Amino acid sequence: MAVLEARALTKIYGARNGNVTYKALENFDLRIEAGEFVGVMGPSGSGKTTLLNLLATIDAPTSGSIEINGTDPSRMKNDKLALFRRRQLGFIFQDFNLLDTLSIKENIILPLVLENISNPEIDRRVNEIASLLHINHILDKRTYEVSGGQQQRASAARAMIHKPAILLADEPTGNLDSKSATDLMDAVKDLNEQQKATLMMVTHDPFAASYCSRIVFIKDGAFFSEIRRGSNRQVFFQQILDAVSLLGGNFDDLSPARS
Ligand SMILES: Nc1ncnc2c1ncn2[C@@H]1O[C@H](COP(=O)(O)OP(=O)(O)OP(=O)(O)O)[C@@H](O)[C@H]1O
Ligand SMILES: [Mg+2]
Repeated sequence: MAVLEARALTKIYGARNGNVTYKALENFDLRIEAGEFVGVMGPSGSGKTTLLNLLATIDAPTSGSIEINGTDPSRMKNDKLALFRRRQLGFIFQDFNLLDTLSIKENIILPLVLENISNPEIDRRVNEIASLLHINHILDKRTYEVSGGQQQRASAARAMIHKPAILLADEPTGNLDSKSATDLMDAVKDLNEQQKATLMMVTHDPFAASYCSRIVFIKDGAFFSEIRRGSNRQVFFQQILDAVSLLGGNFDDLSPARS
């Protein structure tokens, strides 16, 4: 079953005010099945964040359609759309986006508090997801008392605790050192495998990408190629490096091999 189906997505910036226009995405198709972990890679300026913003319903396409769990969010009015985003989508950003005034646990449970879920059920779920992400021991700490890697795993917990249809991540390892990035990707892989979470991650990092089950490459706003992972992550890592060099363009923060 497809969790997400995007057809012929086109995004032209500046199309409305009639000044200079820029076609950031053209006729882009993407289908993501339940339980997939899809990576999106492409040179700087190729349209990755544009694509993510459209799928996240943060921005609307100039043309084309999106279906998430069978519904088209572009047909929804503002308040319904906000509810749809809160229930069906989870987000992880490069800069963690946790609230400093709350504890790690309070941050993680926000999506459940907004849904009026009972306290025992909240505790059960927070303990379950915290064990999976190895952050049980920091639940009562504040954001500034834990490491960047721990903050990012807490963001992943918050993004998943309400079991959204799909989790969207934009450069989640971008601000992490290599040890923290490895820990995060191991944890995200567990979310994918044990909770059957469906994920899409935009990344520059071939190491992080090697955890995906499939990588879609995008160039100049259009589909370029795609590769699927076999059983071996090291082999996939090498295939990603080869695909990236074939793609050309500016992969500015391409990190050295860590795998
Ligand atoms: N709001 C905007 N108005 C006009 N042009 C934009 C806007 N946002 C992005 N663009 C342009 O659209 C193109 C795609 O941008 P996008 O941010 O999607 O690239 P990206 O693949 O995420 O790049 P990076 O890897 O550097 O994050 C770029 O040429 C960018 O300059
Ligand atoms: Mg971007």
